[in-house]
Amino acid sequence: MDLTIRPRRLRGSDTLRRMVRETRLDASSLIYPMFVMDGEDKIEEISALPGQNRYTVDRMGEELQRLTDAGVNNVMFFGIPSHKDEVGSQAYDPEGIIQRALRQARKDFPEMYLITDVCMCEYTSHGHCGILCDHYVDNDKTLEYLQKIVLSHVEAGADMVAPSDMMDGRVRAIREALDEAGHVTTPIMSYAVKYASSFYGPFREAAGSAPSFGDRKSYQMDFHNRLEGIREAVLDVEEGADIVMVKPALAYLDMIRDVRETVEVPVAAYSVSGEYAMIKAASANGWIDEEKIMCESAVAVYRAGASILLTYYAKELAKCIKEGKIG
Ligand code: PBG
Repeated sequence: MDLTIRPRRLRGSDTLRRMVRETRLDASSLIYPMFVMDGEDKIEEISALPGQNRYTVDRMGEELQRLTDAGVNNVMFFGIPSHKDEVGSQAYDPEGIIQRALRQARKDFPEMYLITDVCMCEYTSHGHCGILCDHYVDNDKTLEYLQKIVLSHVEAGADMVAPSDMMDGRVRAIREALDEAGHVTTPIMSYAVKYASSFYGPFREAAGSAPSFGDRKSYQMDFHNRLEGIREAVLDVEEGADIVMVKPALAYLDMIRDVRETVEVPVAAYSVSGEYAMIKAASANGWIDEEKIMCESAVAVYRAGASILLTYYAKELAKCIKEGKIG
């Protein structure tokens, strides 16, 4: 055969394959989502997320230490309060679960980078991500609460805030509130392209945050839409987002690529609870190889254009990167 071009030449050995690799991973780009709850001396397993737990503040150090040991330095906190009300007041209480977790983590793990999810659904009695007006989530009223929430997070020690509520104008409102209070250096990572997704199912069990009526489709995005996602990302950047996120990850790789090509800020992707649960369940049945599928899925997200990955597999991925299995 007179073949001049033979792509297989560059696949000839492991050394060569590593040399020409197009996608490289680093544990410094991983963020671990972690659940902290009110109470004392408790670690509760989350049944829909095998291997993931809820920690009380006095016990969360055990997990933070394991993360540090694995080389994962970035954590995103989700709070589970014992008390919920109509306006989610525990979300901005200086003695709330997130605020206490932040102060403790800041003290015990000064090197860790602490990010907070900014949303109301874990804190409201109705489980919606904002303030209700009848059965409708009132956008502009919710913004005032989001401002209070971020200020309480940053005052308790958050390095970065990540609004996930999908209200219009929240990035601008949050930026203004932070700047007015002098927190001009605190970055905002917005959940810019967040779909109304059934992939969040296990999370809602973990956080007890399923809406008590209706769904989130009047604020989270319709998964049939692509241009709308690009528009959301562009808007958030215009409003001052420093990083934009696409969520979920694996079923939305097209959106990661589109957003990467449209905006000039870093793009993060959130590999959500349902993605983790599916890999766990299939591997528990012996149908797939957990580690290999985890690695391949993570690489796909970076290949699509993300440079930051939020994942419940952060520790395990860091280990695989270290061992040279990927990266
Ligand atoms: C809060 C929030 C959710 C997730 C992240 N932030 C739940 C939701 O929007 O219903 C989902 C994360 C996951 O599924 O892992 N609004």
